[in-house]
Amino acid sequence: MTEKNIVWSESNISSEEREKALGQKGCVVWLTGLSGSGKSTIARELEKMLFEKGRTAYILDGDNVRHGLCSDLKFSDADREENIRRVSELAALFADAGLITITAFISPFTADRRKARKLLSDGRFFEVFVDAPFELCRERDPKGLYKKAASGEITSFTGIDSRYEKPLNAELVLETGILSVRAAAENIICLLIERGIWGK
Ligand code: ADX
Repeated sequence: MTEKNIVWSESNISSEEREKALGQKGCVVWLTGLSGSGKSTIARELEKMLFEKGRTAYILDGDNVRHGLCSDLKFSDADREENIRRVSELAALFADAGLITITAFISPFTADRRKARKLLSDGRFFEVFVDAPFELCRERDPKGLYKKAASGEITSFTGIDSRYEKPLNAELVLETGILSVRAAAENIICLLIERGIWGK
């Protein structure tokens, strides 16, 4: 709830001025998908490719954010909701600063992703479903977490005893079982150019 004695402090720089200086429109590329689906890997490739094109981008990554801003949260439904709420607000501020903000969070619940979208104006939020089959993620198991979840060492694990609600209206679906990391990042870049985030 917004505290009634707090007012919004307006900057002396308009969004237009900021965007003109940066040569791009601030936006959010919201990667969602199972653990091990490839979100962080794609985010890093995308950030690097954008950097090489002279664009200004920054990654907010689940594992990193949970070391600091969200270190008080675990993996209950309520904690995931709060995690995504904080990150959504942060991503909207980064986009307001003019950055191409790339988020890499499981973000398993449709309602939370919808709230994240609502913080941005139309055409500035790109939901990207990093769609790798559960079996493949479990086989990849880059952090050994699926194994731990199977043995009961960790609980409330997404896809095992915590649900993942697939996006139905994502701007882009990346089948990472088939696509290379580079192709996945290129697909996102095409989408951003097509939607006018910067001129060609
Ligand atoms: S989210 O559900 O709140 O969006 P987030 O993306 O921040 O999750 O964090 C997920 C990362 O935390 C995973 O990539 C994984 O490395 C780690 N992790 C640890 N425990 C769990 C768990 N129970 N479920 C899912 N991921 C977990």
